[in-house]
Amino acid sequence: MDKKVYELINDQINKELYSAYLYLSFADYYEEEGLDGYANWYMIQAQEERDHALIFRNYLHENGERVKLLAIDMPDKEFSNFLEPLEAGLEHEKYVTSLINDIYSAAMEAKDYRAMKFLDWFIEEQMEEEDTADDMITKMKLFGGDARSLYELDQQYAARVYSVPSPLANA
Ligand code: FEO
Repeated sequence: MDKKVYELINDQINKELYSAYLYLSFADYYEEEGLDGYANWYMIQAQEERDHALIFRNYLHENGERVKLLAIDMPDKEFSNFLEPLEAGLEHEKYVTSLINDIYSAAMEAKDYRAMKFLDWFIEEQMEEEDTADDMITKMKLFGGDARSLYELDQQYAARVYSVPSPLANA
């Protein structure tokens, strides 16, 4: 595998694990604030991010490359209202999209068509992640000021259940 493509993919394992850590910190915030539905939503999001890390890990193994696990940064955000984690979430997903695009660019430059095909799933996934994060912000802005509506929103997020992402389910 091209050295740059390898390094970016190996690094992405770390970035996805950081995402899991970040969303766990969001779940902690909402749990402390009594919004258990939002806490549930982010706990499941953390599981998905862990899964994304495993998908990249498996890809390196399947291609005979060594995985180098790196130290995970500490999530350090403090929140003062229910909207802030949601906005931080969208900002973070946009950043992750830029990382996936960077790996894709490196793969394209190296004519690594296998890696490009592998990354297609993540390109679509990022579109969904950003769309969902944006929707959560819109709903909080619309309904978050009213206790009854916020309760109902929280109930909706409490209903989210974990499902294994397809690349991992098919691995
Ligand atoms: Fe692994 Fe939320 O992107």
